[in-house]
Amino acid sequence: MLLRMHGVLICGGTGSRLRPLTDITNKSLLPVYDKPLILHPLQVLFDADIREIAIVTGTEHIDQIRNFLGDGSRFDASFTYCVQEKPGGIAQALGLAEDASKRDSICAILGDNIYFDDLSSVIKTFDKGAHAFLKEVPDPERFGVGQMKDGVLISIEEKPTHPKSNLALTGCYLFDNRCFEIIKNLKPSARSELEITDVMRWYMEHETLHVTLLKKEWIDAGTFESLFEAARLVRGCRDVPQGRLTKTP
Ligand code: DAU
Repeated sequence: MLLRMHGVLICGGTGSRLRPLTDITNKSLLPVYDKPLILHPLQVLFDADIREIAIVTGTEHIDQIRNFLGDGSRFDASFTYCVQEKPGGIAQALGLAEDASKRDSICAILGDNIYFDDLSSVIKTFDKGAHAFLKEVPDPERFGVGQMKDGVLISIEEKPTHPKSNLALTGCYLFDNRCFEIIKNLKPSARSELEITDVMRWYMEHETLHVTLLKKEWIDAGTFESLFEAARLVRGCRDVPQGRLTKTP
């Protein structure tokens, strides 16, 4: 039986790598060619027919995000907002969406990720355990890195100095509702954050963690170079899903 799925859009954090732009606004509200970045991950959720979405962000720019996205009705969706008082990691941010998730499965997506593949069929058919989307990259040390053997993930590391593969764990995660219990038992990493890669590792070691390898471009727009590249790709690519984004003012 397929489970109901709740979206969680994670867009807090400091955006320190994009200062001084992020002194003015949240990273996910920065422009990518003709649209704010945040509309790209939001479209991934819409494409999978996810309409109930918790938006997690920090205290500084929540008003700007709420003013822009509103209650979701303009997208035929329903948004709730969760505030992360201090950036204690992506898993901590996800944990704040527990009540909003109403015991549904979770599609969590980072507010700075842009996908050019269509993830919707995988998201719509998610059953239980967890699912990760991996992409071959030239600079894996910037990301969570997964090592595969015979089509199965055998190790997961967050920003390793010496990556065991060039497969980045991208910022869209499917979890069953047990992820919230797992997050409650996580210990902070060396950089004092609750890491989303530790949640995935729990599923890899104790349950099922399925993977999809992305074929098209994928961007984490968290640096000046990748934000610029994102704009270039969006400008040039006619494949980027437009859907309900055209309803924005
Ligand atoms: O983009 C994929 C990568 O995203 C993954 O490969 C890594 O495993 C994952 O840790 C993450 O790495 P980043 O260094 O790119 O994460 P960043 O700090 O840029 O945060 C990503 C998004 O999550 C961004 O929109 C801000 C938000 N965030 C981040 C933190 C640390 C929060 O909402 N709260 C937080 O505490």
